Amino acid sequence: MDRFIMLMIFLLKFLSIHQLLLIHCDDNNNGGNNMIDTLINVLQMNKSLGELIDNLPNNLSMDTINDCFESQLPDDDDMNNSSSTNELNIFDGNMNFGSIVESYYKTFSQNSISIESIMNLFNSMRQMIDYCRQQQNDNQTKLAGRNSTNMNKKNRIRYGFTSLSDKSDTYVRGMLGVLPPPPPPANESQSSSSSSKRREKRLTGNDQQCQPSLRSLPDSFDWRDHQALKNQGQCGSCWTFATAGSIESAYLIKNRTTNQQFDLSEQQMVDCASGPRSGCQGGTSYQAFNYVKDNGLTSEQYEPYRARDSFCFPYFDPVIAEIDNYCLRSRQRYTRSFQTEQLNDDDIQRALVAFGPLYTAINADPISTKNYRSGIFNDSSCPEQINHAVLLVGYTPDAWIIKNSWGKSWGEQHGYFRLARGFNRCGINTEIAYPLLNNNDK
Ligand SMILES: *[C@@H]1O[C@H](CO)[C@@H](O)[C@H](O)[C@H]1NC(C)=O
Ligand SMILES: *[C@@H]1O[C@H](CO)[C@@H](O)[C@H](O)[C@H]1NC(C)=O
Ligand SMILES: *[C@@H]1O[C@H](CO)[C@@H](O)[C@H](O)[C@H]1NC(C)=O
Ligand SMILES: *[C@@H]1O[C@H](CO)[C@@H](O)[C@H](O)[C@H]1NC(C)=O
Ligand SMILES: *[C@@H]1O[C@H](CO)[C@@H](O)[C@H](O)[C@H]1NC(C)=O
Ligand SMILES: *[C@@H]1O[C@H](CO)[C@@H](O)[C@H](O)[C@H]1NC(C)=O
Ligand SMILES: *[C@@H]1O[C@H](CO)[C@@H](O)[C@H](O)[C@H]1NC(C)=O
Ligand SMILES: *[C@@H]1O[C@H](CO)[C@@H](O)[C@H](O)[C@H]1NC(C)=O
Ligand SMILES: *[C@@H]1O[C@H](CO)[C@@H](O)[C@H](O)[C@H]1NC(C)=O
Repeated sequence: MDRFIMLMIFLLKFLSIHQLLLIHCDDNNNGGNNMIDTLINVLQMNKSLGELIDNLPNNLSMDTINDCFESQLPDDDDMNNSSSTNELNIFDGNMNFGSIVESYYKTFSQNSISIESIMNLFNSMRQMIDYCRQQQNDNQTKLAGRNSTNMNKKNRIRYGFTSLSDKSDTYVRGMLGVLPPPPPPANESQSSSSSSKRREKRLTGNDQQCQPSLRSLPDSFDWRDHQALKNQGQCGSCWTFATAGSIESAYLIKNRTTNQQFDLSEQQMVDCASGPRSGCQGGTSYQAFNYVKDNGLTSEQYEPYRARDSFCFPYFDPVIAEIDNYCLRSRQRYTRSFQTEQLNDDDIQRALVAFGPLYTAINADPISTKNYRSGIFNDSSCPEQINHAVLLVGYTPDAWIIKNSWGKSWGEQHGYFRLARGFNRCGINTEIAYPLLNNNDK
């Protein structure tokens, strides 16, 4: 490890590296591959991983490795079909570092290569290796894991390469960006009677319309057949994705559209929905839903996602989705706590089953673990302070099923992750929001 870093520093200092930085390999022509070859030669990446990583635990059993590590590279959206079945076993000490880098960038052909990105990738490998080593050494975990039905193979956390594996922590932190839920709306009597003020009133769990009318709850539930997953890019705009996702789903559930690719514009909210912070700096559920309530949304096709702030054009044509109102329910404690709720699991499950996928927010610091590939995230040290909005789409007796906005090659089943249920893990019980559509019109 030290040797590797010193080599990198040496190269950064003494080589003329300007032509090596920021190589885009998004075309499949020979130019890209030649650049990879050049890098491999200059960085001596033909060293084996065993030479680069001290005590590479190549004595782990294949069983252990399969329990903690996903060696298959994910299918990437932007990837041509050919290399989709690649496997990378980084526990093979003879594996050539250069060939790992090469396979990685062939799979994630949209990522750009630089010395920094290669170092990030190397650190990701170390993280995966450390995790597996820890699994092996932690006899307790291992025994509990093997025996408990909760922690069967499907539920155990596994790491592997994702499109974020070569990104820095700073980059990933830039993808977060959500503020805590707002204080409860002012009492009706106190607010001015102007129509704009009244329109800002949001419904809470105390309002009849927000209350799910369900007799019983299923043990497990999953809305997942209803929409495609979009990639957020590097912009703290998760709040617009979770909002659009919940409205798209509501349209499908209420038969307002039969188009499974019904796709609303996040960019419109990034540019136009104002609030305490906005755009790529982050936002809140209420600023997104308020905006949609007042203005409606156009489609992704008319206002495609650009992962950066841009000018808000006052008119979007055509508006393809409108909402009558929305519910924002939160357990955040305020000095005037009269309209907040506890939001236990049962409340959230009922709202989910009755209304459709929900906007929710979590603390994503540890989940933002760049290399998450599958399993139930259940870290009791995860902070409860929310900073990332996601779309809650279902649950099982053990876990919440959550759609993230980091692309199809992160997480499990093309962009999802699971979070243990029943412990307010990562603040998941803090806030939910969902649109209300009028049943009668249209
Ligand atoms: C790695 O590549 C360099 C340059 O091509 C070569 O000089 C060196 O012998 C190679 N090392 C190994 C272990 O193959
Ligand atoms: C695997 O190797 C490491 C050091 O390389 C050693 O500490 C550990 O005991 C070994 N484990 C087994 C099961 O042999
Ligand atoms: C696949 O490769 C061809 C040419 O090699 C390119 O034109 C096409 O855009 C690629 N498709 C994707 C989805 O990257
Ligand atoms: C990938 O290739 C397989 C056969 O090799 C083909 O059936 C499949 O349709 C291809 N997928 C895409 C997205 O091109
Ligand atoms: C794990 O088990 C091995 C023997 O099975 C034992 O030598 C080792 O001390 C145990 N490690 C811990 C941390 O309990
Ligand atoms: C796990 O099961 C094995 C037998 O299958 C048993 O010997 C062991 O005590 C169990 N461990 C735990 C932690 O329950
Ligand atoms: C809001 O109204 C309720 C009764 O409608 C009253 O009990 C409460 O004190 C009011 N809160 C504030 C902050 O005025
Ligand atoms: C939507 O349409 C489907 C079939 O066309 C029907 O089964 C379902 O009950 C409808 N849902 C609503 C909410 O009207
Ligand atoms: C999560 O951890 C808690 C202990 O903090 C444990 O009781 C629970 O069973 C775990 N859930 C899953 C799905 O692993």
